[in-house]
Amino acid sequence: MITSASTPEQTQAAGAVPRHVAVIMDGNGRWAATHGKSRSDGHRAGSENLRRVIRAFGKRGVRYLTLYAFSTENWDRPDDEVRALFKILNDVIQSEVDELHREGVRLRHLGRLDRLSPTLRRAICRSIELTKDNSGMTVCVALDYGGRAEIVEAARSMIADDVKPEDVSEDLFRRYMYTNGMPDPDLIIRTSGEQRLSNFLIWQAAYAEYYFTPVYWPDFDEAEVAKALDVYASRHRRFGKV
Ligand code: FPP
Repeated sequence: MITSASTPEQTQAAGAVPRHVAVIMDGNGRWAATHGKSRSDGHRAGSENLRRVIRAFGKRGVRYLTLYAFSTENWDRPDDEVRALFKILNDVIQSEVDELHREGVRLRHLGRLDRLSPTLRRAICRSIELTKDNSGMTVCVALDYGGRAEIVEAARSMIADDVKPEDVSEDLFRRYMYTNGMPDPDLIIRTSGEQRLSNFLIWQAAYAEYYFTPVYWPDFDEAEVAKALDVYASRHRRFGKV
């Protein structure tokens, strides 16, 4: 079912908690460099940060959290870094999913599954299946995800479904997105000082608020979560209205 919360109809006064926060977890490599460590150590440190951040957003009442773990462009990184990242992703699934399930978290994947190894694909599908009936926070992992690819894929699926041109609408597009059934992100956070979207949720981000912080992802702790949510709460969203 599509929720109306994703349509930008209402203005929003300051003081609100975002329903959906999406995070570009950037700066693992620079964090590693400042600590005299390898880039894969940086990604490992980034993965060890996930648990406290998921809990911190959950405690503040955020219902959907999307984490950008691997983009369609990240395949162009050196082979050994890609291999290390996938090993870490696999380890995170093995070590965290049961605990997240106990806490009532529902896991979703956004992106392509067909280019992942059969082992990782199976682990992802199992974790989605295991947690699908949970009613707590929804945590989406964007993995082999690209916003432009998502839109192209949606158009292809509509054509394959024989959708008539006059039936193509924003609402129909929404249903063909990986995020079908979820509200659009209210807040997009990018760590490490970069200020761009990098092909992340480009359709869904149309009315998002942005928060950029110089803090590297492995150092983005509970206090940083609180700061980001406090800044969001001070914003007045108008969705094109006055
Ligand atoms: C960007 O840092 C980070 C990534 C490409 C990977 C993020 C992945 C994790 C934190 C691992 C686990 C995640 C999940 C959700 C299971 P960068 O390498 O671009 O850093 P740099 O810009 O400083 O080089």
